[in-house]
Amino acid sequence: MYRSRVAGTGSYLPEKVLLNSDLEKLVDTNDQWIRERTGIERRHIAADHQITSDLALIACQKALQAAGIAAEQVELLIVATVTGDQVMPSTACVLQNKLGLKNIPAFDLSAACSGFIYSLSVADQFIKTGQYKTILIVGAEIIHRFVNYEDRETCILFGDGAGAFVLTRAEENDANYVMSTHMRAEGALGELFVLPAGGSKIPFSQDVLENKTQFVKMKGREIFKNAVRTMSSTCHEALEKNQIAPEKVDWLVPHQANMRIMEAVADHFGFPKEKVISVVHEMGNTSAATIPVAFDMAVQDGRIQRGQTILLTAFGAGLTAGSALLRY
Ligand code: ACO
Repeated sequence: MYRSRVAGTGSYLPEKVLLNSDLEKLVDTNDQWIRERTGIERRHIAADHQITSDLALIACQKALQAAGIAAEQVELLIVATVTGDQVMPSTACVLQNKLGLKNIPAFDLSAACSGFIYSLSVADQFIKTGQYKTILIVGAEIIHRFVNYEDRETCILFGDGAGAFVLTRAEENDANYVMSTHMRAEGALGELFVLPAGGSKIPFSQDVLENKTQFVKMKGREIFKNAVRTMSSTCHEALEKNQIAPEKVDWLVPHQANMRIMEAVADHFGFPKEKVISVVHEMGNTSAATIPVAFDMAVQDGRIQRGQTILLTAFGAGLTAGSALLRY
């Protein structure tokens, strides 16, 4: 068996910013409530002309540059998204073309906010078996186009963005590699967070617009409890599998949905707040993009260093969840 390593990371947040004070003008909410309940201060919103593959392209180009790898070396492209350019073809195929790549497999992976961990896991398996040596994975979302800006329970939470990793086969003596990945799904709880229309169940019609079923619907309190439960449990799984004590982990990079969820997971393991990478104040919940964006920002500002042990954990609609332990 081979091992995979993170050769480079990249991220992109659109320029336009939506502040809490902007939302105060749209719904009955206020800056203090949003900060106290979620930790979010602003979100980045894609420009009208931008589509999901555009955001993904920039993140991928930065990740390739950081890795020192030419796009032509990429053998597999995976896009984690639930807000792709269109239903068909996949955003991965659109992105493949934008990257100028030919004759490689490219596919979307749908696991909502856990999509990036799922993609990391899939890519890791392909490298472990020796099938591919260089894989590009990206979490990219323009979720604001699926949010109802009349619904104060959801519209305060979400923003757009993209984050990418280049994974390569590690050398035999390389100390830095993906140690393990873990994935879960609990379909019985799927109704807690849904985007009802646009699929075969509720195809687009005038009714969709009237009932606003083209927008996400969420049971926030239940999601909150399940998020803490599943992220803590998948973190346990990763630590146990690798026989690593929580104090040996340099950084926890959790899905950036809500500051209080991240703190609850960290408390569970006795992680000090300073060891949790949190950028939720800066971007809100960007679904599959939160983990690679947060990771890349921490690489850029020098917090995450080569050789450190990093624990990633996510949960999302599905419900899905996952974790990964790696030495960067
Ligand atoms: N502004 C002001 N008041 C609000 C707002 C708002 N934006 N939204 C809700 N309220 C009100 C509620 O109506 C309620 O009022 P009431 O007491 O009069 O009934 C009160 O605030 C408390 O509401 P709760 O739902 O109990 O608030 P809570 O502390 O649970 O925070 C929140 C709500 C932020 C949504 C929280 O539950 C949460 O973050 N849940 C997880 C959401 C999430 O992560 N979703 C995505 C998961 S999957 C993925 O990441 C794609």
